[in-house]
Amino acid sequence: MRWAVLVGGRGSNLQALLTRDFPVSLVVSHREGVGALQIAKTHGIPTVTLVPQRHQPRAAYDSALLNVLGEHRIEAVILAGFMRVLSTPVVSAYHHRMLNVHPSLLPAFPGLDAVRQALDHGVKVAGATVHFVTPGVDEGPIVLQAAVGVEPDDSEETLSARIQRLEHRLLPEAAWALERGQLQVDGRVVRMARAPNHSLNRMSQEE
Ligand code: GRF
Repeated sequence: MRWAVLVGGRGSNLQALLTRDFPVSLVVSHREGVGALQIAKTHGIPTVTLVPQRHQPRAAYDSALLNVLGEHRIEAVILAGFMRVLSTPVVSAYHHRMLNVHPSLLPAFPGLDAVRQALDHGVKVAGATVHFVTPGVDEGPIVLQAAVGVEPDDSEETLSARIQRLEHRLLPEAAWALERGQLQVDGRVVRMARAPNHSLNRMSQEE
């Protein structure tokens, strides 16, 4: 499939995908000058920057985004640091073909500042989730999750860094599984039609 990765930040998840030879045909950013755009350019991947202020209201932004994806014949999409809620027309166009990575064990702590929310709640275990995108924020069927323990002296920065290391393993694994047709969706439940590359339990212990 032809994949687009939608970004808005540092681009460490984009880098993780590229390191695992994942085919990325287009990178779209909602912010100018971010690290993710530089990573795309270094790899010779076409980039488009769509700044929300230039496409008002929201429906105009989403329609511009759909046009860009259509022009590049994009068949599947990954949200990796794209901090905008997409409207139903975009989500429907990529039904079960759009993945998001979120820094919490969903359904706990959806939305913004998930790591801060988890720390403020006093959780002892945190983690990362890759899920299909549906119109509700961070609500779609869960593809992969992994956990890390929260240390007593963890700050938002230290915990985020450990969670991002999980993301960098989970996202390429989920994306490759979708690319290879190995994900079966039954309502809310997603099954992978093969054993994962590695034990997620072992992975969390290593972290
Ligand atoms: C990730 O931590 C992801 O959970 C969140 O946005 C962050 C993007 O980081 N949705 P990066 O730009 O991939 O480094």
